[in-house]
Amino acid sequence: MAILETESRTSYDRVPYLSYLFRQTHPDRLATIATLFGLRPAPPDCCHVLELGCASGGNLIPMAEQLPQSKFLGIDSSIRQVRDGQSLIDELRLTNIELRCEDILGIEIDRGRFDYIISCGVFSWVPENVQERVDQETTEGWPGELKCSMTHPLIRRSS
Ligand SMILES: C[S@@+](CC[C@H](N)C(=O)[O-])C[C@H]1O[C@@H](n2cnc3c(N)ncnc32)[C@H](O)[C@@H]1O
Repeated sequence: MAILETESRTSYDRVPYLSYLFRQTHPDRLATIATLFGLRPAPPDCCHVLELGCASGGNLIPMAEQLPQSKFLGIDSSIRQVRDGQSLIDELRLTNIELRCEDILGIEIDRGRFDYIISCGVFSWVPENVQERVDQETTEGWPGELKCSMTHPLIRRSS
């Protein structure tokens, strides 16, 4: 479900987040941890990565530049941030990454498509229904042993 520019804007459209990389979410690191736990993850240099709440792509864009054979998709509900990130991607002429303006609540994730799903700095700042969706997409029901996810920081509100 793409969000049209005319639809409601988020606080991040008014005040964009400073979007940086988080090395904890790099597929190389996730693959290393997964391997230590006995899994057989997709090779970082040829994998598909999805980031939920990617802001303007400060985390994904450096990965896409570093891993040209891998593919990256970032989604965020702030159209301003997505546009800022997409113009940097165009400027850098990266063809293996796309940022889309979508709501986590509305996306349909094709589980066969992504090897790594990351969501960094989102869980603690969104309402419970969005938290549940992030949880559902990053932890539940992944087929086989090939998928890795990283939700950071994972801080739950006490009930
Ligand atoms: C605190 S920022 C963190 C941004 C980035 N992941 C980072 O760590 O630098 C939270 C991000 O989540 C996005 N976000 C919040 N709720 C969302 C939703 N329901 N669907 C998609 N993105 C959402 C915001 O637009 C914002 O870019």
